Amino acid sequence: MTEQQRLIELPYDEDALEPAISEQVVNWHHKTHHQGYVNGWNQAEEDLENQRESGDFSGTGSILRSFTHNFCGNILHDVFWNSMSASGGGEPEGELRERIEEEFGSYENWKQEFVEAAKAAGGWALLVYIPYSDELHNVVVDKHDQGAVWGAHPVLALDVWEHSYYHDYGPDRGDFIDNFFDVVDWSSVQERYQDIVEIH
Ligand SMILES: [Fe+2]
Repeated sequence: MTEQQRLIELPYDEDALEPAISEQVVNWHHKTHHQGYVNGWNQAEEDLENQRESGDFSGTGSILRSFTHNFCGNILHDVFWNSMSASGGGEPEGELRERIEEEFGSYENWKQEFVEAAKAAGGWALLVYIPYSDELHNVVVDKHDQGAVWGAHPVLALDVWEHSYYHDYGPDRGDFIDNFFDVVDWSSVQERYQDIVEIH
């Protein structure tokens, strides 16, 4: 029996990100939407196990699609929640800052590119580290996996699904993106980046 996956705890109270993200939106987003991806992941694992036991693989395609959708939804939400904190804001420092400046020309250049990615995305804007080519990259993702880059590790994730901002901002996604930067926890982003670099 595959071990059941559980929803991560938020590393802060549900009202910690106000006013950038309201307590109500954090609650719905975490307890309903994110939980839904965890449930979907568990369901897909169970369905795969049942198939293997029964020998009837007629549902494989749709189960594996469901696995990918829900797994990717789960892992990106993990990174999203852990990319923010009540004491966030400011700009990256240290090695991550140097790396961003080296690869994007400046922090401002990186930010502008990331913001445009977030405006254009049908799902997520990500800053990823790619061990294969040893580089940082911004990535624009539709849903949770369309446009994914193989071998890339997300270090900063911004969810631009409507469930992430519409209740607080209506159609003004640009304002949500601007305010997201008030709660980005650069120290945790830097830590994630360094952990990934050290492993590879
Ligand atoms: Fe979401």
